[in-house]
Amino acid sequence: MGVTAVYFSPTGNTKRSVEAMAAALDPGYKTVDLTLPSDTGVSCQFGPEDLVIIGMPVYAGRIPMVAVPRLSGLKGNGTPCILVATYGNRHYDDALVEMEDIAREHGFAVRGAAALVGRHTYGEIQTERPDGEDLKADAEFAKRAAASEAMKSTIPGSRPYKKEAVPGGKFKPLISDACVGCGICKRGCPVQAINDQFQVNPEICISCFRCIRNCPVHAKNMDVEVYHAFAREFSSRLAERRENEYYL
Ligand SMILES: Cc1cc2nc3c(=O)[nH]c(=O)nc-3n(C[C@H](O)[C@H](O)[C@H](O)COP(=O)(O)O)c2cc1C
Repeated sequence: MGVTAVYFSPTGNTKRSVEAMAAALDPGYKTVDLTLPSDTGVSCQFGPEDLVIIGMPVYAGRIPMVAVPRLSGLKGNGTPCILVATYGNRHYDDALVEMEDIAREHGFAVRGAAALVGRHTYGEIQTERPDGEDLKADAEFAKRAAASEAMKSTIPGSRPYKKEAVPGGKFKPLISDACVGCGICKRGCPVQAINDQFQVNPEICISCFRCIRNCPVHAKNMDVEVYHAFAREFSSRLAERRENEYYL
């Protein structure tokens, strides 16, 4: 059995969980990282003896609009798969059923699905997650899903989807004089929204905040009162810890 970890993961929560699962099943697992635009439509064929773990973050209750075409090159042939949606402690709404639909269309046989809490992009919500306990539970779940013949649970979510797919959020990162021009933000942007002066094009930006997280000198920022006020209120509204959900 060859295990492949496939993910779109601007700030790394999804990558960590999917890789913890893949490593538990096969230390020599392969990865298909769809986070950069060059990975759009990357072509991969899988057989019935393979196992693919597909991970996506939740954006407004769906999977990120920009990630959907990046999955188009994945072709299963009755290939067992595990679906992973990571979300920031609010809810995952229709994201997992959307993933289930895409996986089936692409020839995968879903063996398990997980809705996992990770640090939210905005504010200070579940900032340490996924933690060691989460990753341990993810790994155990992956072993059980890989050993199962078929998924018995029904994945929660609405069909037709109640949540409208969105390109991203409304907060667009700013740049301060601290910028040293290293280019990490530009090279890592999932949608090539950053120009040669390292400014963000708000029309293209999906507000994933990868540039803010990765900036070594904190030049990329969202340091405006309207964001801080939102982040304070949002963080207090979502303070109560949600638990991970695993479906087999
Ligand atoms: C534009 C946007 C929308 C989001 N919408 C939701 C949401 O509907 N529910 C939720 O709980 N978290 C939401 N989040 C938080 C992410 O789902 C969460 O932080 C996720 O684990 C990020 O994955 P990554 O680290 O792999 O990029 C949103 C984040 C962004 C950037």
